[in-house]
Amino acid sequence: MVIRKIAILFSGTGSNLEKLLETLHRKTFEHCTIDVVCTICNRPNAQGIEKSRSFGIEPIIIDHTLFESREAFDKILVKTILQSGAELTVLAGFMRFLTPYFTQHIKAINLHPSLLPLFKGSNAIKESYDSTLKVAGISVHYVSEELDGGEIIAQRSFEKTSSMSFEEFEAKIHALEHTLLPETVINLLNRREYE
Ligand code: GRF
Repeated sequence: MVIRKIAILFSGTGSNLEKLLETLHRKTFEHCTIDVVCTICNRPNAQGIEKSRSFGIEPIIIDHTLFESREAFDKILVKTILQSGAELTVLAGFMRFLTPYFTQHIKAINLHPSLLPLFKGSNAIKESYDSTLKVAGISVHYVSEELDGGEIIAQRSFEKTSSMSFEEFEAKIHALEHTLLPETVINLLNRREYE
């Protein structure tokens, strides 16, 4: 059985990190076993740190505030991921702009809480809620040099009703994220041939 190694990057609450670990870590699928070889966090106080520990994985903390430039931070990030042996990196609520140095060295996917290419950036949930669109949703895409602009891999949508409060809307987004991201990772890795 092939072992597919992944790295997970996060910055905050870590609910997606938790779902990924629950669903994927050391689980065997038809064509592979997935092993989360490292989790990396850029914020020393992130709640997700304890979640990672509860799965027996001590997160690697790389505090971005200690670096003089984005590139300097990304160089250490890239080195850490390469050393872990991960063939795919999953950005699960990793709130950093990444430089071309990162995208040129690391194959990564990102979770974004809108139907891309709509509502790129960090205010996606609010902008999507406030918009006149009658549907909303989430996307998983490859990470490229353009912010939230890489090739879309998977999306999931729902109907936005006028009676929906912002809290209900946000909860719906997160519920979809918690299933789509692990499913997408499985779909990508659980192939006879994966490159
Ligand atoms: C998610 O909504 C994700 O789409 C966005 O940041 C949030 C992370 O939540 N990029 P969590 O830390 O996984 O709970």
